Amino acid sequence: MRRAALQLSLLGLLLTSAATLPNKGDWDIYSFHINATVNSRYATTVINSRVVNRAEESKEIEFHVQIPKNAFISKFRMLMDGEVYDGVVKTKEQAQQQYTDAVTRGESAGIVSSVGRTMEDFKTSVTVAPHKKVTFELTYEELVKRMLGKYELQIHARPMQPVKDFKIDVHIHEKAGISFIDLKGGLSTGALANAITKTHVDKQAWVHFYPTVDQQKTCDSCGEQGMNGDLIITYDVNRDTELGDLKALDGYFVHHFSPSGLPQIPKNVVFLIDRSGSMSGRKMTQTRTALIHILNDLADEDFFGIITFDGSIFHWKRELVQATSENLLSAKEFAKNIRDRGATNINAAVLDGASMLNAHPREGSASILILLTDGDPTAGETNLERIQSNAKEAIAGKFPLYCLGFGFDVNFEFLEKMSLQNNGVARRIYEDSDADLQLKGFYEEVATPLLTDVTMIYEGGANLTQTNFSQYYNGSEIVVAGQITDNNIETFVPQVLAISKNRKMTFCNTSSSIAPPPGTVPEGLLQRIWAYLTVKQLLDKELMSSGAEKEEVKKEALELSLKYSFVTPLTSMVVTKPQGENTAVLHKPKEGEKSFQLQSYSPGFGVMGPMGDPGIAYSPPRFRSSGPLHRHHDASGIAYSPPRFGSSGVRGGLPGLAGPDYRHHDASVKYALSRPRPTFRPLAQPAPISHRFLLKTESPSPPVCFDVSGTVSLKLLHHPTRELSVNGKLDSVTNAGFRKIVIHAKSDVHIEVKPVGVDVRQGQSETRHTGEDVITAGSVTVIMRDSEIDVAAEDVRLVIYIREEKGKKFLWPVLRQKTSADNTEGILALKPAVYDEVQDQHSTKLRINGQEISAANSTAVDYSIASPLEMRCWLVSADVILQRSLNDFLVSQL
Ligand SMILES: *[C@@H]1O[C@H](CO)[C@@H](O)[C@H](O)[C@H]1NC(C)=O
Ligand SMILES: *[C@@H]1O[C@H](CO)[C@@H](O)[C@H](O)[C@H]1NC(C)=O
Ligand SMILES: *[C@@H]1O[C@H](CO)[C@@H](O)[C@H](O)[C@H]1NC(C)=O
Ligand SMILES: *[C@@H]1O[C@H](CO)[C@@H](O)[C@H](O)[C@H]1NC(C)=O
Repeated sequence: MRRAALQLSLLGLLLTSAATLPNKGDWDIYSFHINATVNSRYATTVINSRVVNRAEESKEIEFHVQIPKNAFISKFRMLMDGEVYDGVVKTKEQAQQQYTDAVTRGESAGIVSSVGRTMEDFKTSVTVAPHKKVTFELTYEELVKRMLGKYELQIHARPMQPVKDFKIDVHIHEKAGISFIDLKGGLSTGALANAITKTHVDKQAWVHFYPTVDQQKTCDSCGEQGMNGDLIITYDVNRDTELGDLKALDGYFVHHFSPSGLPQIPKNVVFLIDRSGSMSGRKMTQTRTALIHILNDLADEDFFGIITFDGSIFHWKRELVQATSENLLSAKEFAKNIRDRGATNINAAVLDGASMLNAHPREGSASILILLTDGDPTAGETNLERIQSNAKEAIAGKFPLYCLGFGFDVNFEFLEKMSLQNNGVARRIYEDSDADLQLKGFYEEVATPLLTDVTMIYEGGANLTQTNFSQYYNGSEIVVAGQITDNNIETFVPQVLAISKNRKMTFCNTSSSIAPPPGTVPEGLLQRIWAYLTVKQLLDKELMSSGAEKEEVKKEALELSLKYSFVTPLTSMVVTKPQGENTAVLHKPKEGEKSFQLQSYSPGFGVMGPMGDPGIAYSPPRFRSSGPLHRHHDASGIAYSPPRFGSSGVRGGLPGLAGPDYRHHDASVKYALSRPRPTFRPLAQPAPISHRFLLKTESPSPPVCFDVSGTVSLKLLHHPTRELSVNGKLDSVTNAGFRKIVIHAKSDVHIEVKPVGVDVRQGQSETRHTGEDVITAGSVTVIMRDSEIDVAAEDVRLVIYIREEKGKKFLWPVLRQKTSADNTEGILALKPAVYDEVQDQHSTKLRINGQEISAANSTAVDYSIASPLEMRCWLVSADVILQRSLNDFLVSQL
């Protein structure tokens, strides 16, 4: 029985057709979470999928996700029937052996991975006994790269069915401060935009995406199978002209260097354009288009050259010429007439390009060689290694060579190696309608050199990642990590030397201490960043080198991958049942591999075999570049916190609260006034209980806050068209949050939430729930977790946090989904605050809806975010900010 319960089977890569999905309908994904945490640009993402087999027989249940190419899987586990099955990272050889043994025993095993444009595909499955549940949990890690002035965190969601409890939570923490955060991708458009809330407070930002089941079916790329698309979070951090963002912890440091405000360095750029027969048709047209756009962007002081090549070489001009409007016009005319013909002589093209640049030495400039090709060398020198060594000799480290491989007929590894040997990178250009934009996009990344000959020096540092960079481009970032000798920060001296135009520059000042404030950088994080970067660079180095050196580098990369549990091209993750009968192996596919299969069929468990044509490439739908930028609302909803002693900036109370109606805030005003000298309050008269609420803004300006006194019951959310109402009773003993929240749906469902558990009354039946549980009552789903209770009802998604202060538990509601109805009412349905600050002689006033009102500088704790945070707010009278009497928000009965 046990045995039957866990059968992993190798699945082929048959993603192109929906017909190959296992027979769904018998199983249900009742919960799907993606939780991404970014700290110091290092993103750790956990995908958690919970599935139940509703059938009367065992079923094969599939887990299928996509992760960014740059990421390493670091953990995979399955939980089933009270048992945990953890993946272990092993060498490829060990994994292969374990796999082979399993297959020999007639058992099945496997995982399949493949590569798309920006994502890799991972898929495994497991057989689950009738009415049993399984939880899959996959963790991957990546350093998000700064490109064109921003970081991008791409999250792909395709749970394969609408999921009641679907959510994506993202938390970003950057010591330098976040300068902006935006969302794009298919999942941020249309009706789904309502499901996104975004909060941004100085160094931290949160994005929550909680779509309802209906929304999961209605977006552009969604259907009966639920969502299929990307949520892309872009952000940048504040930066200065100095040394940048440097952090040290536990003997490791990470340095992000990206000075801004430097002048552009004039460049000398030579484009080598393949015009062999294989480029014919759309590829040639797109190349022409891209080249013309690129020429348009050249600066006056730039010099450039164009070489087209097939079996022979054609110079537009023999020498580099200045990018004057006259020359550009003539070059564009030339570009328009580039036609495909003949073979491919890469060797001659690279050598000619290099000699053009070498013949044009120019003080204070930066030279760049860009090669675009779509095929293997077929004319002239065709031995790949000789071409590489010729290129290296001709370039001699003087400028970077960037190789763009167009389509899948190129030997990408050859291009990659040649670029890496010459301080450049290779990029694949996907044959698609936007290939010209991909070409132009790549060019833009290197279009603005700001520094050359960058040398990063760390006195007192050891085991450093790459420290020398030939060029630094605007919008990018240089990242170096290493160890600090003896963990001695005092003797650790970082410094950067570089050349800006003709000027030698030294960067040596950091704007803040390199030891981050306690609790802001998780333990071990900097070490992981170091390990991640080191492994990435060793893998590149392995590609470049040969012979004994290659083996040495490979060994080092392998050891680190094993130590830090990274699934890299050298390792695999093996998931084994304790008794060792069944095995699954996770691999990282290689760039350029259309699919990766360890084994092509699964004996004994023929669900999916024989496998698909390995030539079928699955490329995930692309929303990456097409999605328009959308504006999103900040976390609507309301945050709330009890007023605090001592921490408030209220000076002399609330000046001139000249509102028309004082009834409801009297107590709080007294409270505020009494705060500076609380000892004067007679003991016999305890302070009236007063609760503070935050009303956030959509702009970075501080939120507004107001107090509600007494242990009243509040209307949190009333949704007449859906016959849904949520009310909450404030705590009467402390000023911490709600004691009880009650949800009424239609006339017969009543759900009472308390910190200790949930009571559900539906018609005559009444049940009590504690601990982790999933409850469905009518149209309402309640998911109980450790410290939060998620409620999904029609188009409302509500999270009720269970918070604790001073040993007292209380509830904290947050609306994660704005309903489309405009007749919803209640504290949670309030629109974000919009105000202007008006300064007069004595005080600050806020202009809200044309009315000037008094406001006091104060603070409140925001309990609506994952880790509550005290923030500044403008304390105003409730009636003014609510635009009506607070009485309208009170209910007599829960
Ligand atoms: C998300 O991950 C972070 C870091 O591991 C953790 O602190 C947090 O509790 C997680 N959030 C959820 C909703 O699971
Ligand atoms: C670098 O990029 C920023 C925006 O990302 C821009 O404001 C600045 O002008 C650019 N610098 C140069 C020299 O082009
Ligand atoms: C880095 O550059 C410096 C100065 O240009 C040089 O002395 C050093 O050897 C280089 N280091 C490496 C690892 O290439
Ligand atoms: C670096 O900081 C020191 C002390 O704070 C200051 O005197 C010096 O001018 C700074 N150097 C630069 C280049 O900003």
